[in-house]
Formats: sequence, C-alpha cells, structure tokens
Amino acid sequence: MEPTAAGKDGGWAVQFHCDQLSTFNKKIIKVRESYMDLTRYEKEMLDGKYGKGTAMAMKIQVAIGETFDAERMVDITRAHVALSAQDADLWFVEKLLENGAFCKVSPTVNPSIDLKYLNDHLCEIPKAGVDIVTSTNEAYKKIGATLTFNCTPYLIQNVPVFGEIIAFSESSATPYANSVIGARSNRESSQSALCAAVTGKVPLYGLLLDKNRKAEILVKVEADIQSDFDYQLLGWCYPEKYKGLEVPVFCGIKKRPTPEGYMNFGAQLNTSGAVSMYHIQGFTPEAPTLEEAFGGNSVKKSITITDEDIDMVRKKLCGEPGKIDFAMFGCPHFTISQVKTVAEILDGKKTAVPLWILTSSSTKELAGRMGFLNIIQRAGGHIIPNTCIDVPPCWYPYYGKTGVTDSPKCAYYYEIRKTNFIIRPLKESVEAAIRGEVIE
Ligand code: F3S
Repeated sequence: MEPTAAGKDGGWAVQFHCDQLSTFNKKIIKVRESYMDLTRYEKEMLDGKYGKGTAMAMKIQVAIGETFDAERMVDITRAHVALSAQDADLWFVEKLLENGAFCKVSPTVNPSIDLKYLNDHLCEIPKAGVDIVTSTNEAYKKIGATLTFNCTPYLIQNVPVFGEIIAFSESSATPYANSVIGARSNRESSQSALCAAVTGKVPLYGLLLDKNRKAEILVKVEADIQSDFDYQLLGWCYPEKYKGLEVPVFCGIKKRPTPEGYMNFGAQLNTSGAVSMYHIQGFTPEAPTLEEAFGGNSVKKSITITDEDIDMVRKKLCGEPGKIDFAMFGCPHFTISQVKTVAEILDGKKTAVPLWILTSSSTKELAGRMGFLNIIQRAGGHIIPNTCIDVPPCWYPYYGKTGVTDSPKCAYYYEIRKTNFIIRPLKESVEAAIRGEVIE
C-alpha cells in the first residue's frame, strides 16, 4: 500500500492505491471525509496539531481503518516493529523523523546486525551493509524505539497479557501474542506498527474484535506431534492444505507445546501462510473446548493432518543428506533453553564447520552467566547477539554454500540469496555441524 496524503480546505484527504487489498478490487480509492468516529484528540493529530510526522502516521492509520471498515480507533499499550535494516524500512522511518515524529508508545524492534561481531568473526561487512545498518539503528533510536534487536519480544522484553490491545509486526510475534497469550494484535507490517507506536492508536478491526477471533476451520491432527521440530513441520503443513485467512482450531494434539514449540508453529504458519491467529483445543486460552473456539460459528472447512502429510512436508522441505559448510540457528531468535540444548551436545567436542546461534543480547548474557557460551565457543560455535539472518549484504560468505538449520523459515529466506539449506531437528543439526555432514 502506498499512501499519499494532502490537506485540503483546512481538512484532509487520503488517497491510496490498495492493490494488496482484495476488498477493494485493485481500485484507486479517494477518501475525502473519514467516516470513522474519531475523538477530538485523534482529529487534532490528523490535522497536524501535534506535528507533521504524527499527522502522517495518523493518516496512514485512518486509511487502514477506512479500508477495513473500522468504526473508531483504540489505544495500544505495546508495539513491536519488525525493523529490517533494508531500504524501504529505512526510507519510511526517516520520512517520519524528517517530519518530527516521535513514538508515544516505545516499540521494541527486530534484530539488525552486530557489525563488530561479524567483522571480527566472519568477514568485512561491505560499506553498503555498514551504512544501512548504522542509519537504521540511528533512525529507530531517534524516533524513540527501545533497541532490543530481538524477534521474540513476546518471550522477553515486551510480553503482553491476556486481552491487551497491541500492534505487533513480525511473523512469529503476531500469532504467539494472539493465540498463546490471548493479547490482541492485527498482522501489522513494520510500517503500520511504527505508525501505531507514533500515534499510540490502532483502528479497531480484525483480530481486535471478539467475533473475528473465533475459529472457522477445524483441523483434526491425527499426526503424532511431540517435539518442537514437529511444530515446524505442522506449521508448514497447514498452509499447504489450506491457504485461507480464517482462524483455524487444531484438535487432537495431546501434549502441551513448549514455548519453543509455539514459537516454531507460529513462525511457520505465518511464513508459509498468513495465519496471525490459531487455537489449539485444550491448550490455548481462547479454546478450552471446540465449542468455545468456534463461538457459534459453523465449521466452514474441515481438514485432517496425518503422519503421511507430515512426512510429505518433511520430504519436500528438509533436503537430502550431504556435506555442509556451516550451521545456522536462531530464526526466530533462540531461547535460553535452546542454547542449553546446543551446549549440552557440544560439550567437550569440536565442530567441523562454523556454527552460528542468533539470539538477543540478554539471552547471550544469560548464556555466558550459565557457562553455555564458553562451551559453545570452545567447540567452535558463535552466539551472535541482536542479529537477523536476513540483512542482505552481511552474510555474503555463505551465499552459494550449503548449511544445516532446524528452521524452515531460515531456509526460506536464504533460498532468496541462493543458499542451500538442509533442515533437520535441532539435535541432528548440531551433530551434523560436529561431523561437517548431514548423514540421514
Ligand atoms: Fe528473526 Fe530475522 Fe528470522 S527477524 S525470525 S532471525 S528472519
């Protein structure tokens, strides 16, 4: 969506090309008067009383509200911006800054790149990479973001509570906040989440409303889902069977997922599909029973996922055994429990290839305090803080090579950079890094 805004007769007008929004059938829409019921304060924001930058953010928010037939705005108490240290992201935050915007609700932000760590341990980062990362970090600091550089804010540093209205972007963050915690966020882009942070408001539509949080799709899980890795595959499998945006409820899962299982599940559901909210019968807070999950909705579609379906995804996704050049973990960012698992496998051993773990600086510090960092470093591994696998110029030594990972999302992003990944459960992946080869 490309918003352009122009004041007119002391009022305002918003024109936007909503070619991503099927509801408008790819037409150019002009909105002369908002039909949203805005408060006096919101109208003042829109009219520029609190500066041009706030007005820009509010105009975008109102345009989104109009698009989705929101009646009014509501306050948010948290935001998370999926900062990406890429051109469009930097352009947008700098545009707001040039016009004097500052965040009313300080958002946490996604990882960027720890330039010094990569320079010291992998390669000299090209100037283009240094410039964009430095400018992005500086811009987000100026606009008032909390520089957490972590893509799992729902586990540390920005944890919402049940019912809280928030604006979270980032693929694993929105489904975790909605489904596992019961907080309320639409599937924000980094731009709309930043506008929400600037205005402190979001339009009231979509998953903020009770009726839209109810299930319409019944997913009978006959497959035996046990491990955190099984959730990676289940999360990839569902959108292969059904691409719709309706909320699904998964039934038949016998064991409560771990936080890492939920994290993996949401990341894959929202990467291979666009699932911002799901229920698991008996485990997630808005689905103690199927009846409550559906909330009076009829079952629009029923899907069954069997062991054969999971095996098919495994075959399609995971790749053939073979030699590897590196191992990459932490997409989404690793938790301390995952770091511990890696340290236990590596204890007293050496890796044949470089092994990278991406996590927040606070988890890295905790790993140091608990002795895991020493074990991993002695084995030849790295824990790199505050860093994403997808900041284009920064991981170039691995382009064209073969790695191992436990994360289909990691493999998906690297595919764009022509890097091959073999995907295996975490334990098998770490053992492969010790051998320099995936053997099965
Ligand atoms: Fe996190 Fe970057 Fe992966 S934001 S989920 S490490 S693509």
